[in-house]
Amino acid sequence: MAQTNTAIVSGAARGIGAEVARQLASDGLAVAVLDIDADACHQVASEIDGAGGASIAVGVDVTDEKAVTEAVDQVVGELGAPTVLVNNAGIIRDNLLFRMTLEEWDQVMSVHLRGAFLLSRAVQGHMINRGFGRIVNLSSTSALGNRGQANYSAAKAGVQGLTKTLALELGKFGVTANAIAPGFIETDMTRETAQRLGVSFDDFKAAVVADIPVARGGHPADVAHAVSFFASEAAGFVSGQVLYVAGGPTS
Ligand code: NAI
Repeated sequence: MAQTNTAIVSGAARGIGAEVARQLASDGLAVAVLDIDADACHQVASEIDGAGGASIAVGVDVTDEKAVTEAVDQVVGELGAPTVLVNNAGIIRDNLLFRMTLEEWDQVMSVHLRGAFLLSRAVQGHMINRGFGRIVNLSSTSALGNRGQANYSAAKAGVQGLTKTLALELGKFGVTANAIAPGFIETDMTRETAQRLGVSFDDFKAAVVADIPVARGGHPADVAHAVSFFASEAAGFVSGQVLYVAGGPTS
């Protein structure tokens, strides 16, 4: 009988991460719903369990080295060694360069890059032992540059470099690494952006959608389906790639 795959999804308490967790559970994986918001993690995990899936909630700050190691140990003990990792946890601290504080720069770098590094390093040994692993990292179209996001766009470009290096180092052990770079996805994160800009979410969305070739906003499920592909056993010859999930080509 095939062994069960176990996924860790960071930032899975809401938005894209929560949908990715639900998708992977419905694909038959056991899922660790990991987020700094422990209470919200429990809600997503109980929803997955209620739908017949297997999951646990793990409240952890991905920037905390010790907590990340303990969290991965907990997953190994309760669900089995992780074979899929989705580095999705993220924050925005937008500001124009001249107003951006060092704290805003450091916080964004830390959650996206330090967090993805710590989790990838903590799971890679388990994947290598199994001779199988899938790492999927959330980048963004902002990696190509975005006004007001010097910190975030640098972090999301960094995620692409990290992904390609993981693909190079881990490929021979049966482990692939790929990045997904979404465009505009309707979540609390983009609602916060509208709020910061002082416009209603509907107006913000209408302005963004005007430039999206498929003429709609993205949904967490659009990203979750792409993760599902990269996480699948059948995707073993696809590694080090960046897939833009943005409703059209990016430039
Ligand atoms: P969101 O803000 O709705 O959810 C992010 C989750 O990450 C939250 O549950 C939050 O508690 C968690 N988180 C934040 N800091 C953490 C930490 N230190 N440790 C553990 N968990 C932490 O965001 P959304 O929209 O679901 O985005 C998910 C990912 O997709 C992020 O990496 C984001 O940068 C990326 N993305 C989102 C896009 C969008 O349009 N919504 C577009 C492109 C990329």
